Amino acid sequence: MGIEDVTAGVAVGSQARSGQGETIASTNPATSAVLGEVRGASAEDIDAVIAAAHHRFTTFRDVPAPVRGTLIRRLGELLREHKAALGELVSLEVGKIQSEGLGEVQEMIDICELAVGLSRQLHGLTIASERARHRMMEQWHPLGAVGVVTAFNFPVAVWAWNAALAAVCGDTVVWKPSPHAPLTAIAVHALASRAMLDTDMDGVFSLLVGGKDASMRLAEDRRVPLLSFTGSSAAGREVASRVAHRLGRSLLELGGNNAVVVLDDADLDLATRAIVFGAVGTAGQRCTSTRRVFVQRGVARQLEDKLVAAYRSVRLGDPLDPSTLIGPVIGPHAVVAFERAIAAAQEQGGTVVVGGKKVERAGSWVEPTIVRAPSQESFPIAHDETFAPIVYLFEVDDLDAAIAANNAVSQGLSSALFTEGLRAAERFVSASGSDCGIANINLGTSGAEIGGAFGGEKDTGGGRESGSDAWKAYMRRQTNTINGGRDLPLAQGVTFL
Ligand code: UN1
Repeated sequence: MGIEDVTAGVAVGSQARSGQGETIASTNPATSAVLGEVRGASAEDIDAVIAAAHHRFTTFRDVPAPVRGTLIRRLGELLREHKAALGELVSLEVGKIQSEGLGEVQEMIDICELAVGLSRQLHGLTIASERARHRMMEQWHPLGAVGVVTAFNFPVAVWAWNAALAAVCGDTVVWKPSPHAPLTAIAVHALASRAMLDTDMDGVFSLLVGGKDASMRLAEDRRVPLLSFTGSSAAGREVASRVAHRLGRSLLELGGNNAVVVLDDADLDLATRAIVFGAVGTAGQRCTSTRRVFVQRGVARQLEDKLVAAYRSVRLGDPLDPSTLIGPVIGPHAVVAFERAIAAAQEQGGTVVVGGKKVERAGSWVEPTIVRAPSQESFPIAHDETFAPIVYLFEVDDLDAAIAANNAVSQGLSSALFTEGLRAAERFVSASGSDCGIANINLGTSGAEIGGAFGGEKDTGGGRESGSDAWKAYMRRQTNTINGGRDLPLAQGVTFL
């Protein structure tokens, strides 16, 4: 992978060096073995990196967008070349199973391809003016040095969503990765460095390994016009209020509490597979993970039986063994959160149908768990996003009740409905249906493609990243009115002079 110096937790463009801040140990969650140690960024390091990114922006913004695209094309090529090794490192550092580690790198490659195409399509509108011989138009200009704070669960793909778009938009990028995944970040930055040098565009991407303090400094620094933050709703609230205080912009991807609704007429085998992938995949640690299932009474028993059978066949073990379907959770604190949620669920009237216990082996392991729950109103634990493979199963009378329950939590990221009925499907995706940023029919809550805008409402933070027109968040819009005549007519018919 070319990790020449794993202590190099700070990088200004391709110039990597050891930070002067605290040492961060990277641990393999499957074994608790320390993989490496990284000296993170001190306050002075953070200031120096932001200053350099801010300064580099003043020249990078004038590089034509299609030329900026060649940097991302090179990055995509390098990611393709190193996909196997990088996917393995993701598995080692955060415990993803092999195919999900590789999938994460593929997600980076996909967004690079999208961004390269976008580099020739950053278009604005031409708008009819009410004034004779006048023309209005909109232009999208680069914004500045963009801060990107990412979480452990998608340690590199979420950086790529932001960085690939930001770079073709003409921004420089300062990345603060999760302290759980510094090595993966350093490896990716090594590839980004090669791409910058190969295309003669050094200085566009920078790296700051650090903890909460580094995030807060990025949030407070006026030289960072946009901060993209992925993490819990609680952390996002703190970061966003600091950014808002200086009237900066934030792009938030916060907690999810995603539900699958299964109606009487659904294809239950399809629903079962989607729920298992959504709830067990990535050990329940995606923000899109399925945490709640609302099943119509007529098929509740049948669905539960199918889910239990499927859960019994899920193999837990070494993430790099291709037959494994569930790896570890990120660390001991995640095991504690799992146990607390199970205890609360039982106190609140839930019944563990399968799983429910931590697994006694080196590292941080829990059983994939299904809890049959009473109504959601009497089950407060269902309102929390517990980052663990726990799914709560509720029975509901009909679609209206399911939609109301889906929308009753504070988060609003992803949702899904299983039905063979057109009317039910249309109702679910209508304005009075699911209130989430993502609403799917006959597929699960997780595993979105990069082509769509990704994000959610309410406590999820309202941000949109990745595809569609999410690129606009990384640019500033300028409205131009051009007078091609010899008169000076005023808008709204105002007369003067
Ligand atoms: C996240 O969990 O932060 O839709 C992102 C998905 C992935 C991205 C998840 N493509 O599940």
